Amino acid sequence: MTIFSNVDLSAANTLRLPCQAERFAAPTTLTALRQTLAEACRKGWPVTLLGGGSNVLLPETLPGLVVRPALQQYWLSQRPGDVLAHVGAGVNWHTLVMTTAARGLWGIENLALIPGSCGAAPVQNIGAYGVELADTLQAVQVMELATGQVDWLSSQQCAFGYRDSLFKGELAGSVVITQLVLRLSRTPAPRLGYGDLAARLANSLTPTPLAVAEAVCAIRREKLPDPQVLANAGSFFKNPLVSHQWAAQLLKEHPSMPHFPQEGGQTKLAAGWLIDQCGLKGMRDGAFGVHQHQALVLVHFGGGDRQGLMKTADYIAAQVEARFGLRLEPEPRLVNP
Ligand code: EPU
Repeated sequence: MTIFSNVDLSAANTLRLPCQAERFAAPTTLTALRQTLAEACRKGWPVTLLGGGSNVLLPETLPGLVVRPALQQYWLSQRPGDVLAHVGAGVNWHTLVMTTAARGLWGIENLALIPGSCGAAPVQNIGAYGVELADTLQAVQVMELATGQVDWLSSQQCAFGYRDSLFKGELAGSVVITQLVLRLSRTPAPRLGYGDLAARLANSLTPTPLAVAEAVCAIRREKLPDPQVLANAGSFFKNPLVSHQWAAQLLKEHPSMPHFPQEGGQTKLAAGWLIDQCGLKGMRDGAFGVHQHQALVLVHFGGGDRQGLMKTADYIAAQVEARFGLRLEPEPRLVNP
């Protein structure tokens, strides 16, 4: 068990927000993780969990102990109709997608190029191009922070919703995700319903999972900035859910508004479109700005901090509210608000 002191986390979050952690540990085994958590308990250090840092808004200082689970195991087990992938929380999500797709396994190919670690994926139930993690997730292994006890949760128990799960609600701050089990399949099951994806694979009659993953990568690279080049955390706002009646009213005034009716009486609107309509695409406000190709992504040009980012985000949300009467909510998690 190694615990480092005064660790700079500015390179450990894709928004590159300045953040100094009082202590930091990246345990690679369940035993090391348990010992690290027990030490934090003994010393009374508050624990903050960090994954790939691609969906968090970090404060300038983090007291206590930051734990980044670094469990790296990966293995496959065969079942009569499918293949289970067992993956440690520290495995990079995109690496997992490309590895399983290259082996001809279907299930998560639409989720290529989503940054972050496997352990963070269930927290916000990552989703893209008509697929969510919840669609293939079989079970999640967690360790209780207070006791070090390991438990398994079924997908149903995780209470997944749109960018939501039990890990954001009831279990927030009380467990650490240590392993995922995903249900993949060798039976072709391409899900190409989402806009440009089918168009991109039009010349391929029987696409492979790898071909779909590569098409997704190409689409994402066109619209979304590479955090290595321009700091960002993907979508900054959630796509708002409104009642069907409200959506119908907005559509009267804005007939071209993208809208996606959901089960349960709600319609999902496109936050990127709403921001774009306010003329904010490509705008810059000091150290932060709205990405020029995708209005849902806020970018950090350098030299800013979380407070500055929240000011820019509030300005954008206020513009959208004034024009459309609805309030956008940030998607990344506010750590130590
Ligand atoms: N749109 C605009 N202007 C913009 C951006 C979008 O008019 O600047 C319109 C598009 O033309 C389209 C609609 O808004 O009609 C939706 O846009 P897009 O298909 O790009 O998807 P999105 O709703 O902006 C969501 C996810 C992304 C995910 C994509 C693809 C959320 C918050 N975001 O974005 O997830 O990759 O769909 O499935 O649900 C992430 O969470 O970090 C993320 C990138």
